[in-house]
Amino acid sequence: MNSGLGQGFSILQHDDSNSCRFGLAQSRVLYARFITWNNIMDKIDLRVRIGSLELKNPVMTASGTFGYGQEFYPLVDPGQLGAVVVKGLSLKPRIGNPPPRIVETPSGMLNAIGLANIGLERFLKEKLPWLENMNAVVIVNIYGHSVAEYGEVAAGLKGVAGISGIEVNVSCPNVECGGMAFGTDPEVTARVTEQVLKNSDKPVIVKLSPNVTDIRSVARAAESAGADGLSVINTLTGMVIDIEKRVPKLANLLGGLSGPAIRPVALHKVYQVVQAVHIPVIGLGGIVNHRDALEFLIAGARAVQVGTANFMKPTATLDIIEGLRVYCEEQGIARIEDLIGTLEVN
Ligand SMILES: Cc1cc2nc3c(=O)[nH]c(=O)nc-3n(C[C@H](O)[C@H](O)[C@H](O)COP(=O)(O)O)c2cc1C
Repeated sequence: MNSGLGQGFSILQHDDSNSCRFGLAQSRVLYARFITWNNIMDKIDLRVRIGSLELKNPVMTASGTFGYGQEFYPLVDPGQLGAVVVKGLSLKPRIGNPPPRIVETPSGMLNAIGLANIGLERFLKEKLPWLENMNAVVIVNIYGHSVAEYGEVAAGLKGVAGISGIEVNVSCPNVECGGMAFGTDPEVTARVTEQVLKNSDKPVIVKLSPNVTDIRSVARAAESAGADGLSVINTLTGMVIDIEKRVPKLANLLGGLSGPAIRPVALHKVYQVVQAVHIPVIGLGGIVNHRDALEFLIAGARAVQVGTANFMKPTATLDIIEGLRVYCEEQGIARIEDLIGTLEVN
């Protein structure tokens, strides 16, 4: 049975199906076992700390793959997640790139959405109140096309209740610098981080690009600039060609690769960054189930984000939370914090 609820539940189901053979005594034993199992599950502490942020569990959504939360309701109650990281916001609304802007690839997908979003003002008016009402922990992913623009978006979120943190996407092109992504240069990453911090009253998490020679130098630059945490990683650059038409499959030519195909790369980058900095690291890239999430936590990530998996299975985040709980119970781990960074390397 693949209920995701673990051994205790399957024992109960099995016995239950034969209940006609059972007397009262057996039912009582079964009930007691069920209650004991439930109590153990309730006692497992999934809370994690990301700097000053306390999350009820370590599972968040990855920006751009969960809309503004409402799109997945009622399948997923956003209040049950560690946090909801919303689609990347810019100051003004943006329609993004022309289609086709998504293509499936082996064990993953390539996207060139072009950071389409409804803009800061509409988000605050139309989307945030619903998330607040659902008791969701909201992290707003932001981006700009210049260092100053990052500051302006952060300033627009200053003093707004119901937002627990800002995640800064430094993977987008810098118009002041010939279109090079901000996050490919440690010095520019530091400047963006400082600019956001200067204009913000919330914890600032910088989301790193994997499309660099040494991610550790960018991570250290963001840390030195004052970042409260790091998300690792954004998508890897890729392209796909239609050999019949001899054209790129994406109108934008290039796209960002995500999904299980990138998981080993993401895990390595997370491990490298965890070794290089002292601030909390949030791991993501190709996580589809709780076993994947565990790899990132054991490598030292304090929380994880789930992206492409939401398109494959809308309830992936909830299943992962339940899977983590069952794993902790089976391994005798009372607090998931005790598992973080327990990788043994010879
Ligand atoms: C369709 C799509 C849209 C995305 N939009 C954003 C975005 O707006 N801001 C951002 O920082 N990352 C964005 N990402 C990157 C994801 O948040 C995540 O870093 C990446 O997909 C790797 O995780 P995954 O393999 O679990 O999907 C997007 C990814 C996808 C697939």
